[in-house]
Amino acid sequence: MKAITLLQPQKIVFGTGCIETFTEDYKKMGLQRLMVLTAPPILPLIEEPLANLKATDVSIEIFQDILAEPTVNDFKKILEVARQFKADSVVGIGGGSVLDVTKLVAAFINSAQQVEDCFGTGFIKAKGLWFACLPTTAGTGSEVSPNAILLDERDHLKKGIVSPFLIADAAYVDPKLTWTVPAKVTADTGMDALTHCIEAYTNKFAHPSVDIYALQGIRLIAANLERAVKNGKDQEAREALAFGSLYGGLCLGPVNTAAVHALSYPLGGEFHIPHGLSNAILLPSVMKFNMPANIKRHAEVAIALGCQPGKNDEETAQRGVDFIYRLAAAVGIPDKLTALGIPQTAVDGMAKAAMQVQRLLKNNPREVTEQDAKDIYNSLY
Ligand SMILES: [Fe+2]
Repeated sequence: MKAITLLQPQKIVFGTGCIETFTEDYKKMGLQRLMVLTAPPILPLIEEPLANLKATDVSIEIFQDILAEPTVNDFKKILEVARQFKADSVVGIGGGSVLDVTKLVAAFINSAQQVEDCFGTGFIKAKGLWFACLPTTAGTGSEVSPNAILLDERDHLKKGIVSPFLIADAAYVDPKLTWTVPAKVTADTGMDALTHCIEAYTNKFAHPSVDIYALQGIRLIAANLERAVKNGKDQEAREALAFGSLYGGLCLGPVNTAAVHALSYPLGGEFHIPHGLSNAILLPSVMKFNMPANIKRHAEVAIALGCQPGKNDEETAQRGVDFIYRLAAAVGIPDKLTALGIPQTAVDGMAKAAMQVQRLLKNNPREVTEQDAKDIYNSLY
């Protein structure tokens, strides 16, 4: 068995209502200036826990204007707010963008490095402030991953910064924070989490220590996403999805994603399509493309999705792809790029941009050429 390094937050707390554990833990830390990054719909959910902290003389600065796809300049403005406030700790309570910015604020607040010099893997030189992540979607898994994504407005590409220093000191996964997430966001983010698990399990660098997270994440999300989309108040489904998302996040560091994410980034960078939605549309086409490279693993994915075995691995794997098409349709995700307003004339440019995401393409079980990328995009018209 090949060696693998598993890096995770020192503390992972999971459970409905565990935001209270965060405030209790924080009080014991001796920190006094907490920068809270969040978004307006979340504020009513966190008012009480934050009031509880304020009552103990903790100074709190709330920043809530984080856009869905934050750019390098957006990040720098937020970093400046955190510097002015003289934060000694940071917490992100939000979706993937909020959590990614939180991680970067903690890493760069006292650093002389520029964020744009750190695109790629391993360029951040030192650990920054103590920080915690509380996801409110299920989700990006960013609360446990070493990754953060920003949109570089110089070339309209979404770029990843990967570093062990971007792993949260603590992650609190409270499914209660996802109860009010609208159906569309539930669908998009749930498909993102499912993609993390599928891309980890079929990954060129798949590893038994990560396979267990990936398979369990696939089972939980496949069985519960439609339920949560149809009824956001289905607490059992919300809990299962939060768990599935956490498992997907645990796949991100050691194995990470592959061609679905690589081909998805140009849709976000140029056309501002939400990350989960662009992954969801690409997922079945990339699975079909990848199947011949590792048919057995794709058949195992299908079984985890809940499909019955076919007469051979090919048939079983195909049932998995069909399941994804059915699930995506059931949760309201379109199957054509035209539905997102992306003209077919954009395909060549998107394929070129996707080729730059070698950091993820190298993980794909089958080599993806620029022509392959064009073919995959074109199959979605
Ligand atoms: Fe993702």
